[in-house]
Amino acid sequence: MSEAAERVREYEWRDQDFKFLAGLLHEKTGIVLTEKKKEMMYGRLVRRLRALSIPSFADYCKYLQGSSGKKELGFTLNAITTNTTDFFREKHHFEYLRDQILPPVNKQVGLNSAHHFRIWSAGCSSGQEPYSIAMVMRNVLGPSARNCKILATDLDSNMLATAKFGQYDAEKCRETIPRTYRASYTQRVKDSEGDLVKMKDEVKNLITYKQLNLLHDWPMKGKFDIIFCRNVMIYFDKETQDKLVRRYATYLKPSGILFIGHSESLLSVSDIYKCEGKTTYRLLR
Ligand SMILES: C[S@@+](CC[C@H](N)C(=O)[O-])C[C@H]1O[C@@H](n2cnc3c(N)ncnc32)[C@H](O)[C@@H]1O
Repeated sequence: MSEAAERVREYEWRDQDFKFLAGLLHEKTGIVLTEKKKEMMYGRLVRRLRALSIPSFADYCKYLQGSSGKKELGFTLNAITTNTTDFFREKHHFEYLRDQILPPVNKQVGLNSAHHFRIWSAGCSSGQEPYSIAMVMRNVLGPSARNCKILATDLDSNMLATAKFGQYDAEKCRETIPRTYRASYTQRVKDSEGDLVKMKDEVKNLITYKQLNLLHDWPMKGKFDIIFCRNVMIYFDKETQDKLVRRYATYLKPSGILFIGHSESLLSVSDIYKCEGKTTYRLLR
């Protein structure tokens, strides 16, 4: 950043404040914020300083270390997470789910079956990923889908609130949700924000949303048939990524599937997972 640009900033943004905040966020979330992210971080956090009438980033760092720090940290984390997502993003995973995984499940999950098929969307952001999973499940399994459970978790409480609400911009939905799914599982609504699409209860009811930091304890009981953890690990350092994918292995049923994002790889854990196709991995036991 040039000296001139530095001068027009509303708040001084010292290297030591950036380093303190980046260190704190790394410790709490695993997210790595390098120098390249310095501008982005300023832009995202400056709103908090204004909202709290805090005069400088140095004071914001002190505030985070003081008695209000624990509460404020939630706002800091919400501001800093990157939540980009979409319905049917990386659509090969949903095709694999529809064509390879669910047809045999159809036989096991009869209407009165005690068999529970469990999927975890880890880092679900504003809900488009778990709703895409739910629509495919409902479509392939019909009413038996109600014996399936989707757990959707994220660190960001704002994203979880949006996900639970389950209403999205109608035009975006037209572009990303296939027509037959839109017709069956969504409903048009209008409000002050314009044309919206609301997810119907038959897909909403398949999903349970919970706030969960992937670096903390995982309170879930039982194992999952599939874990989606896509475009989340990309923000973590290598060591955190490795720990996470090894930890996922302990939460997968035998031969369970882990879907990861397009720029992520599981090369370092080829002793645990076998690649079954593009960013699709099967547990080797
Ligand atoms: C880019 S979005 C990915 C959303 C979706 N999985 C997809 O691929 O479209 C990444 C999400 O990971 C969440 N996240 C980042 N660090 C996390 C952590 N330590 N624990 C839980 N969620 C985290 C963010 O809040 C964000 O919503």
